[in-house]
Amino acid sequence: MEVRTICCIGAGYVGGPTMSVIAQKCPHIKVTVVDINARRIAAWNDENLDNLPVYEPGLADVVKEARGRNLFFSTEVDKAIDEAEMIFISVNTPTKTYGIGKGMAADLKHIELCARQIATVARTNKIIVEKSTLPVRTAEALRSILDNTGNGVEYDILSNPEFLAEGTAIEDLFNADRVLIGGDDTPRGKRAKQALVNIYANWLPKDRILTTNVWSSELSKLTANAYLAQRVSSINALSELCEVTGADVTEVARAIGSDSRIGSKFLKASVGFGGSCFQKDILNLVYIAKSYGLNAVADYWEQVIIMNDHQKKRFAQRIVRTLFNTVSGKKIAIMGWAFKKDTNDTRESAAIYVTDYLLSELAEVTIYDPKVKKEKILADLDYLNTRSEEENRALVNVVNDPYEACEDAHAVAILTEWDEFKTYEWERVFKNMLKPAFLFDGRAILDTEKLEEVGFKTYTIGKGE
Ligand code: UDX
Ligand code: ADP
Repeated sequence: MEVRTICCIGAGYVGGPTMSVIAQKCPHIKVTVVDINARRIAAWNDENLDNLPVYEPGLADVVKEARGRNLFFSTEVDKAIDEAEMIFISVNTPTKTYGIGKGMAADLKHIELCARQIATVARTNKIIVEKSTLPVRTAEALRSILDNTGNGVEYDILSNPEFLAEGTAIEDLFNADRVLIGGDDTPRGKRAKQALVNIYANWLPKDRILTTNVWSSELSKLTANAYLAQRVSSINALSELCEVTGADVTEVARAIGSDSRIGSKFLKASVGFGGSCFQKDILNLVYIAKSYGLNAVADYWEQVIIMNDHQKKRFAQRIVRTLFNTVSGKKIAIMGWAFKKDTNDTRESAAIYVTDYLLSELAEVTIYDPKVKKEKILADLDYLNTRSEEENRALVNVVNDPYEACEDAHAVAILTEWDEFKTYEWERVFKNMLKPAFLFDGRAILDTEKLEEVGFKTYTIGKGE
C-alpha cells in the first residue's frame, strides 16, 4: 500500500521535525501536522522562519521547501484525522505527577485523548503509528480504545519510536542509523508495516529499516536511551573520582573510548544529562521492572538516575563551597539553559536544578542562553514550585547579552556546551567581574590553563586540581 495522506497529532520537538523531513523527502504525500496549541501552530506557519517553535539546525530550510507544498500545520484536528490514511501520534508523555506511578510511570492522558478522538472521527480504515516515547504495551491500550469505541473502522497499530537527538534532529532523520517499525506479524500487520517502510525507503537504504514485533520496538526505544544515559552516568561517576585523585576525566574518556569495543561516543562528563527522554525512559523501565516484581533489575537502572541527580547537586554544592561557603546576595552568572547545545528545549535541563539550588542559598542569578527565551526560563523555575513566582523574579535576571550576564558577578558557571562560549573574550569578562573571579565549567569545554592565565580561578568537571 502506498500512503498518500498523513496526519500527525502533536507539533512538538518530535512531530514537527519528523513530519517536515517526511514531507520534504516525499513530495507525493500530503502531510498535515495538527496541534491543539494554536500558538504553536501559528508559529509553525510564521512567514519568518526564525519564529518556528522548535530551534534545530537545518530545520528552517526543510520547512521552507515543503511548507505550503505538501506540508501543512493546522489546528483542525478532526479534518486532518478524517483525511489521513496514516496517523502519527506524537503528543507528549511526561512522567506522571500524581496518583499511581507518580514520579515514574508515563502519563498517557494525551495519548488516550488522541485515541478517543480518532475513534470518534474516523470513517475509513487507518494505520496508527505511535511516535511518542511510550512505555511498553501502549499499543495494546491504543488498540483497546480504538476497537471498543469505534464505528466499524479497522485500525492497524504500529510502533515507530523516535531516535532523533535534539540539536542534530534533521541530520539524524536524513541519515538515521536505523528506523524501527514494530507491528503485528499477521498478514494485515505486515501490510501496515510495509506501508511505513515504503515511506522511509524514499531516502533511507532498506537495510536500515528494521521491522520487529510491537513489544520489541517499544522496549528498544526505552533501552537504547537507558544504555546511552548509563554511559553518561558512568563517566560522570568517574569524573568525581578523577577530581579527588588528580586524574583528568577527558583523558580517561579518550583512553576508554579508543577501545573499539567501547567506542568514543557518550563519554563526555557533564553536569548531568537532561532532555525529555533519558530520565523518563529509564523511569519507565524501572516502573515496568517493578511492576513485574523484578526489583534487582529496577534498582540497577534506577542507579543511573540517582547518579545523575548526584552530579547536578554536587556541581551546585561545589560552587557554594568554593565561594567561601556562602552565595547569599552574590551574583552568579549561569551560561546556558538548554539541556544541550543547538536546541531551545529545556526539559530536565541540569541548569534548572543547579539554579534552583543556588537560589535556595539566596544567590542572585543572572542567566544567558542564546536560544531560550526569558519566559521559558522563568516558567521552568516556577514549575519546580520551590518558591513563589515573585521570589523567582526577585532573585533571577535573564539577559540577552553574555557579557552583561557576567558583569559584577562573583562566579560564572557554564551549564550548556554552546560553541559560542568557547569564542568569548574571557579577558573582557574577567575584567568586569568581582575578584576573585571564579569560573565553573560544567561541560569541560573551555581551556582551563588559558583561563587561569587570564586570572580566573577555575573548576572543571572531572578535572583534579
Ligand atoms: C536522546 C537520544 O539520543 C535519542 O536517540 C532519543 O530518540 C531521544 O533522546 P536527546 O535527549 O535529544 O536524545 O539528546 P542526547 O544527545 O542523547 O543527550 C542527552 C543528554 O545527555 C544531554 O543533556 C547531553 O548534554 C547529555 N550528554 C550526552 C552528556 O552529558 N555526555 C555525553 O557524552 C552525551
Ligand atoms: P515531544 O518532544 O514528544 O514532541 P512536545 O511537548 O514538544 O513533545 O510536543 C507535543 C505536542 O503535542 C504539544 O505541542 C501538545 O500541544 C500536543 N498535544 C498534546 N495532546 C494533544 C491532543 N490531544 N491533540 C493535539 N495535540 C496535542
